[in-house]
Amino acid sequence: MMPLQDAAARVAELRRQIELHNYHYYVLDDPLLPDSEYDRLLRELKALEDRYPALVTGDSPTQRVGAKPREGFAEVTHKLPMLSLDNAFDDRELIEFDRRTRERLGRATVIYAAEPKLDGLAISLRYEGGILIQAATRGDGQQGEDVTGNVRTIASVPLRLLGDDWPTPLEVRGEVYMTTRGFEQINGDAARRGEKGFANPRNAAAGSLRQLDPTITARRPLEFSCYGLGDVAGGDLAPTHSASLRRLGGWGFRVSRELAQVSGVEGCLAYFRAISEKRNRLPYEIDGVVFKVDDLAQQRQMGFVSRAPRWAIARKFPAHEEITRLLAIDLQVGRTGAVTPVARLEPVSIAGVTVTNATLHNEDEILRKDLRIGDSVIVRRAGDVIPQVMGVVLERRPACTQVFQMPNHCPECGSDLVKETDGAILRCSGGLYCPAQRKRSIRHFASRRGMDIEGLGDKIVEQLVDKGIVLTPADLFRVTRDALAALDRMGEKSANNLCQALERSKHTTLARFLYALGIREVGEATARALASHYPNLTDLQEADETELMRIPDVGPVVAEHIHAFFRQPHNLEVIESLRQSGIHWDSITGSKQERGRPLAGKTLVLTGTLSQPRETVKERLALLGARVTGTVSSKTDFLVAGEAAGSKLDKARVLGVTILDEQGLESLLAGNGDA
Ligand code: IVH
Repeated sequence: MMPLQDAAARVAELRRQIELHNYHYYVLDDPLLPDSEYDRLLRELKALEDRYPALVTGDSPTQRVGAKPREGFAEVTHKLPMLSLDNAFDDRELIEFDRRTRERLGRATVIYAAEPKLDGLAISLRYEGGILIQAATRGDGQQGEDVTGNVRTIASVPLRLLGDDWPTPLEVRGEVYMTTRGFEQINGDAARRGEKGFANPRNAAAGSLRQLDPTITARRPLEFSCYGLGDVAGGDLAPTHSASLRRLGGWGFRVSRELAQVSGVEGCLAYFRAISEKRNRLPYEIDGVVFKVDDLAQQRQMGFVSRAPRWAIARKFPAHEEITRLLAIDLQVGRTGAVTPVARLEPVSIAGVTVTNATLHNEDEILRKDLRIGDSVIVRRAGDVIPQVMGVVLERRPACTQVFQMPNHCPECGSDLVKETDGAILRCSGGLYCPAQRKRSIRHFASRRGMDIEGLGDKIVEQLVDKGIVLTPADLFRVTRDALAALDRMGEKSANNLCQALERSKHTTLARFLYALGIREVGEATARALASHYPNLTDLQEADETELMRIPDVGPVVAEHIHAFFRQPHNLEVIESLRQSGIHWDSITGSKQERGRPLAGKTLVLTGTLSQPRETVKERLALLGARVTGTVSSKTDFLVAGEAAGSKLDKARVLGVTILDEQGLESLLAGNGDA
């Protein structure tokens, strides 16, 4: 134990910091710190207060939730306090919660209601005679703010309840939140206006709801989902929490689709795992899962401790925002020469992954966020999205930071950098003279959706270009087996495999070939449209812009890029050389071409015992262009499950991968599947 005096000083410092962060978070809707850091401060304070009870005071941040309502909204006193939840940060704490619950209830197993923990802000809606009469924020749990005008603008909040069997008054509690897509949309709009944007969907929801002008709130994509009740005439709606929520659903409220009843701690652990797997695919952000004793009589038996019920717990996910140092800003040159600043970060573990780089988009973004080299920055890694730098912790800015300046020349080849007309993007003017653009073009050429050259990864392309062996995609087909085998990370076997993959890729479709060429603005869909319009490549090469614009989805900009591409003698030489090396496609039109390899781009996993040898199935699939891998992931398109399939089948179910039995497989092979 530290001396009481030291503990008192630390407690005072922690309270000062927490109060400051509370103010920024709740009043200004502009947090200084990521939640993880805030939680750490609060937990440290709690731990010290537990150890030195003499230091606990009524005004300690541990003694209340939230902060004072800000001026501008009327105060609302909640009839029943709006509670908070205890947290479990790992399985052990969840197991401990279940043990305490079983002990208090004197039961061997407890049934829990399980719901995702939405990351927004809590709202209490009061209905009288079935009509919404008041909406209030949680505030400090006792008193919140009257935000009725703003909440009325949220489409998923019923203004009048459906049916007629509702009690009056009825107070419904739930979360106002913003979908990930809505968040990206309003932040994108803010960026286009040169404004700062919100740090995360939760702040965006809070900021939008606490607008003094409801017409602003009305333009924000907010949603409401209910998870509980407040003051209800006559008491319970049903004997269990989950049944009460279902009744609310019948009166027009949104209830989480993920709501489930689970049995015992095993059920809780399995639910948590399933939601964790699914998390990235949910259209909204969640920061954990909430487990509540489902039986309301049992809830009453358990009661509350200060601000949280004993009958519920939030199993939190590891935080996906952390603070780290911005060590440098490097520039990355893309396939089309676009120069993107990339943050080099002091390695930091975020939700189990070590992050060392984050995208910074463009120069304006760096200026807008006032990022300087040496700053402490908030980094966020959510879902499958590339890590982002959300902002600076100004409080921690050291004395000697360095302002970043964009150079005038390409860092890779020294060519001039030019600003696009729309102003944001800076591009290297070096074209394929620039080794960075060359490497990326070749990677794109070989990519799965392009020529699908298996085994031609970044490191190999890097060496081939750096050694001057490959200058254009056409050179790939001239590289010898020996030259490949001599590369780092390559042996005889991989060199052989790569040679075979190169050979295989020569039989392709016109659409894939066009996509692989990397013409600006020509993605897969446009490439397919071009191929079906011009089954003969020469006709496409000769088409003028007016002709090109007759193709669906081809506008003036795309037409200009296509036309310009085929006017470059260098590009025509590369195409000619590729065809000389044997690249060919069947001269049938459009989507029919894909019939040659109808499963191209699809990934399958085989599991369990099949009635034919696995190698045979693999070969048959490969002939149709499919790839067979050994592990199920979110990228798997189909799992073929034979007899006695085990954990792969479970995983596929959790991930929502399409599962085929042998009959389904045969129908896929016969071309009747949903491929
Ligand atoms: S129940 C009596 N259920 O989490 C328990 N809260 O940390 C009251 N939240 O203020 C809350 N999803 O804003 C509950 N399914 C859910 C939730 C949820 C999100 C939020 C809510 C609450 C906070 C507590």
